[in-house]
Amino acid sequence: MFDSMYGSTARAAIAMSEGVKSTGAMVEVVDLKACSLTAVAFHMYDSACFAFGSPALNSTMMPLVESAIGYCRGLKLLAGKTGAIFGAYGWAGAPTINDMTEALKKCNANVDEVKLQWKLQVNDEVLAKSYEQGVKLGMKALEVGK
Ligand SMILES: Cc1cc2nc3c(=O)[nH]c(=O)nc-3n(C[C@H](O)[C@H](O)[C@H](O)COP(=O)(O)O)c2cc1C
Repeated sequence: MFDSMYGSTARAAIAMSEGVKSTGAMVEVVDLKACSLTAVAFHMYDSACFAFGSPALNSTMMPLVESAIGYCRGLKLLAGKTGAIFGAYGWAGAPTINDMTEALKKCNANVDEVKLQWKLQVNDEVLAKSYEQGVKLGMKALEVGK
């Protein structure tokens, strides 16, 4: 699930989803601008793993990402699940990653090792890392689903 202003985080989300698909796991790419909170909950209810993507905005995450995580927290949809955090930044990405990590910890999700952040537009290296992250999530999802 992601939000994006100029498309960088969106492109990484798609690369990540291709990585998940390569493992045989099912994946849904959710652009939060085009998705209700009810649909967020519906997708998350069904998911073994998750990834939230947000570019840095005013030293935190995008509001739609924050509200999606908050909605999932109330419904306990992320508890015990493993997920990734990713997104672009312009000049200082750490506050965004920290806020997303804190928000997801409040959901009792496991996000400690999976954080992918890069400056401005994606390049081939970022897309490759995103794909790789998707492979890891796909494998984890298959393991959880067994
Ligand atoms: C209104 C606005 C606020 C921003 N605030 C931050 C910020 O606080 N820290 C930062 O590092 N980058 C900030 N940026 C830069 C974006 O994070 C950067 O352009 C990023 O590449 C956008 O990713 P996207 O293509 O997925 O939208 C801001 C950009 C805009 C338009």
